[in-house]
Amino acid sequence: MTIDYAEKIPNNVDLANDRTLQRALEHWQPHFLQWWHEMGPSDFESADVYLRTATSVDAQGWAQYGAIRMPDYRWGIFLADAVADRRIHFGDNIGQPVWQQVPGEHRSTLRRLIVTQGDTEPASVEQQRLLGHSCPSLYDLRNLFQINVEEGRHLWAMVYLLHAYFGRDGREEAEELLARHSGDADKPRILSTFNEPISDWLSLYCFTYFTDRDGKYQLKSLAESAFDPLSRTCRFMLTEEAHHMFVGETGIGRVVRRTLEVMKELGSDDPSRIRAHGAVDLPLLQKYLNFWCSSSLDLFGSEISSNAAANFAAGLKGRPDEAGYDDHVLRDRTLDLQTPQGVEQVPMLNALNEVMRDSYLKDCEIGLKRWNRAIERAGHAFRLTLPSPHFRRSIGSWVGQPVMPDGRLVSQEEYAKRIGEWIPTQEDRAFVRSLMQQVLEPGRMAAWVAPPERGINNLPLEHEYVRLR
Ligand SMILES: [Fe+2]
Ligand SMILES: [Fe+2]
Repeated sequence: MTIDYAEKIPNNVDLANDRTLQRALEHWQPHFLQWWHEMGPSDFESADVYLRTATSVDAQGWAQYGAIRMPDYRWGIFLADAVADRRIHFGDNIGQPVWQQVPGEHRSTLRRLIVTQGDTEPASVEQQRLLGHSCPSLYDLRNLFQINVEEGRHLWAMVYLLHAYFGRDGREEAEELLARHSGDADKPRILSTFNEPISDWLSLYCFTYFTDRDGKYQLKSLAESAFDPLSRTCRFMLTEEAHHMFVGETGIGRVVRRTLEVMKELGSDDPSRIRAHGAVDLPLLQKYLNFWCSSSLDLFGSEISSNAAANFAAGLKGRPDEAGYDDHVLRDRTLDLQTPQGVEQVPMLNALNEVMRDSYLKDCEIGLKRWNRAIERAGHAFRLTLPSPHFRRSIGSWVGQPVMPDGRLVSQEEYAKRIGEWIPTQEDRAFVRSLMQQVLEPGRMAAWVAPPERGINNLPLEHEYVRLR
């Protein structure tokens, strides 16, 4: 279905024929724009940015690229096409038709799921708002802004659901989504990872690699939902999300490539010499991976969760790629779960957060393989790794356990003494910040990161992806 751009709010949900909803969303729209003005990318409102805009929800819809000012981006409401005769395909109601309205008994749970997802979208824009001032290139600056406008659109996606299906509470929640702010002492964002500052580009690459990938897994599980409008919304969001993870994976890959060049030039892998040369040594990169991976793992929730069980049984939230499993009811399955007390056998339904976390970690391995191949080809023995899922957990059965990134338990004393070997110290962060010098000359790259393999949409790397005014 094509998107109607003649409307004040571009949409493919026939908004013009629902005047009440249209009015409610048109009332929210200026609040959103005000939020963007105050909390969105700082200082670049008048710049022309080479952005892609969705014109339809099929693959060709993405072909629309052009230079526009960010405040003029056409945020709107886009749902993937409906699937004819779609049926609930997991949980206790398998085979029944999916829901076009919210069943009363699931109303508050669905609202909470949508609000929690919705809250992360503007949060990440807030976390990233100052990064433009230290961009390593115009290419990267453009990618940052592309992510930012799309996260803004993801907020629209969730606000549409709240307005269209949850009446007055939904409208109130939509206002609250603009009132909470990342890192705010009084009104923080709901999930802790989204209150962590992202003050440098190495963190941005890690965030888009690990945290946007958590987003992918959450969206995948909601795309399975029996609440059909939620499923269709999430399916389209997933197509946008892919670019964010691309920025993370290629960003970290470019850092690795640059570091390998410096190591070759110096004929040394001595971290202090690499730092003195203005590059990120691999052990430092490993600390950033440890930090953002462990932080993102918390987003999946406790290993044992009765909410996860109830949400699955009711058909609200499936497993990512549910169709790939053979048992979709899970009433008589169990999972052997590693806890600090030993292996515990738990009902599979209650262990679904862990199942999701596991498939997420497998997805995370893909980039690591690629980066490690580059390190190996350059003749170095160092390998980047993912930290153990038991490392630095602040939720679930491993909370407060002194586990090293390799999974071994140590004494609390040793853990406290060595934590600075595993995640960035104040000094590490200060060093990384010192590398972050803004580069605005078309085609040029900061010294700590290699250029990407190609430009955006077949344009050369020298293209002026952001034209400052
Ligand atoms: Fe998003
Ligand atoms: Fe994202």
